[in-house]
Amino acid sequence: ATLNVDASPATSRLIPDTLFGVFFEEINHAGSGGIWAELVSNRGFESGGSTAPSSIEPWSTIGDESTVIVYTELSSCFEQNKVALRMEVLCESTGANFCPTGGVGIYNPGFWGMNIEKQKTYKVVLYTRSLDSINVSVSLTSSNGQQTLATSNIVAAASEVSKWTKVEILLEAKETNPNSRLQLTTNRKGVIWFDQVSVMPLDTYKGHGFRPELVEMVADLKPRFIRFPGGCFVEGEWLRNAFRWKETVGPWEERPGHFGDVWNYWTDDGLGYFEFLQLAEDLGALPVWVFNNGISHNDEVDSSYVLPFVQEALESIEFARGDPDSKWGSVRAAMGHPEPFDLRYFAVGNEDCWKKNYRGNYLKFYSAIKRQYPDMQIISNCDGSAKALDHPADFYDFHVYTGASNLFSMTHKFDGTRSRTSGPKAFVSEYAVTGNDAGRGSLLAGLAEAAFLIGLENNSDVVHMVSYAPLFVNDNDRRWNPDAIVFNASQSYGTPSYWVQRFFTESSGATLLNTTTDNPSSIVASAIAWKDSENNNEYLRIKVVNFGVDTVNMTISINGLQKNTIKLFGSTKTVLTSTNLMDENSFREPKKVVPNQSLLENAADYMNVVLLPHSFTSFDLLM
Ligand code: AHR
Repeated sequence: ATLNVDASPATSRLIPDTLFGVFFEEINHAGSGGIWAELVSNRGFESGGSTAPSSIEPWSTIGDESTVIVYTELSSCFEQNKVALRMEVLCESTGANFCPTGGVGIYNPGFWGMNIEKQKTYKVVLYTRSLDSINVSVSLTSSNGQQTLATSNIVAAASEVSKWTKVEILLEAKETNPNSRLQLTTNRKGVIWFDQVSVMPLDTYKGHGFRPELVEMVADLKPRFIRFPGGCFVEGEWLRNAFRWKETVGPWEERPGHFGDVWNYWTDDGLGYFEFLQLAEDLGALPVWVFNNGISHNDEVDSSYVLPFVQEALESIEFARGDPDSKWGSVRAAMGHPEPFDLRYFAVGNEDCWKKNYRGNYLKFYSAIKRQYPDMQIISNCDGSAKALDHPADFYDFHVYTGASNLFSMTHKFDGTRSRTSGPKAFVSEYAVTGNDAGRGSLLAGLAEAAFLIGLENNSDVVHMVSYAPLFVNDNDRRWNPDAIVFNASQSYGTPSYWVQRFFTESSGATLLNTTTDNPSSIVASAIAWKDSENNNEYLRIKVVNFGVDTVNMTISINGLQKNTIKLFGSTKTVLTSTNLMDENSFREPKKVVPNQSLLENAADYMNVVLLPHSFTSFDLLM
């Protein structure tokens, strides 16, 4: 086989700066119990609903009914989340009804265990109240409470805690245990109330509350944008459970939290609108704000009543971009970010094009936002690849979940785009191989996605943004398979789909070169020229997918080079393949299917290379 690469400026063009990004959805406990580093699950006792008494899951009681009685009441000092925990201790340290060793109380196992690490410091914040003097042990322990990793006591006279009082404690762990819990225990008789109990590690990504090793895996993708917070999570099964940004900003203690009824779990909304914007900034990625347009999976607001949603949208933009003395800009400033966030992309809904009120609602959002923020790029849910949109838009969403052969054949999906110079650009905001071909993240899925992405790269005059979905899964709550990054409380790994994306980290903003191959049925290729700003080195990267069962001997010939100096030293070859097509990574074998880099010993403008069966190869030539 042959691959011709034309490096002459006449046939090259710039790839949009925004091409490769990520899509973060609160699905699979990706945020709550995921990248958001809060260790306590249901920290405000709110997940059982806004009436009391209610379930306090996953909290549990330490001690039996003869020693301690625990239930929720509507007695919190926080107006938006009135549920608090009342704990009546019946036993005491001495006398006939003495408490069991270690005392009685409550514990929280976090999200399938808290990962507590030796010598790391954890900040405990809680609110408490009592009419008696209190002596409460605050401890991080093993899952059965037998091993204490860190402990401290809250000792206060009745007069000090007769009103709701905020307590802050720093705990340094003396041992590591990935399956720990938080305990609040006492052996002093009396009634104590607790609310808004939080445990956060001090060590978070850029100090902003995110789990560092998970965010670093995202940062390694060099995403140019981050679409958030969903997906279906934005819509809700019912509008009453949809994501409403105003309830997710301001002091964390005052956020009511909500039950995401599509993926069926509670979130305290510690990871709220502000934190998403902060994460985008910390990643150097542009935020793409997906907004509920008055439509959920099962109910819709008629277009004549949608203005309150439009108003909320305008206010959300003011929150992100407004002056610190504007109404909503001041809320942002009070949260520690007086400078505006760089919000330029606004998606009206998610997968709602086919719904009765979508067009009507969309147009109301579009005109109101463009009137006030003419530069805002508006994304429609309607697929403009098949036929021209019947409404104005800067981008249209394109989603695809399908089998491997089908996605492989969609490499050419955008080749026939009608108008390449005008009209909305495509935002492939969700794509993945799913079903039997994918399992929990197979090499086969990754290879088909690699071919599809190469197709998008080659069509990046009409496709300006692309992101895989979903990004994260907590292995304890798989709501969707496959996903790019798998984690639990202490471990994480990338699926082949994650590693495929790593091949495209230099593509956004690079120069696309023209490529032709004589074996289009199983070979898909693209080539870019890019400059490493850290050392000013210039590279040519040629990416080739061999989707066939046979080894392919290929001649690569590069013409039109401006700088005719391909250097041997510094040129490399990176290959992603494995023994079996359905091979996956796992906690046991996290690196079974990962790219392998080696020196490219015959790097030149004319070279013979070997493409392994079922492989994705990148040839990186130093110029
Ligand atoms: O990525 C998972 C889901 O797939 C998203 O929530 C939704 O947009 C799509 O249907």
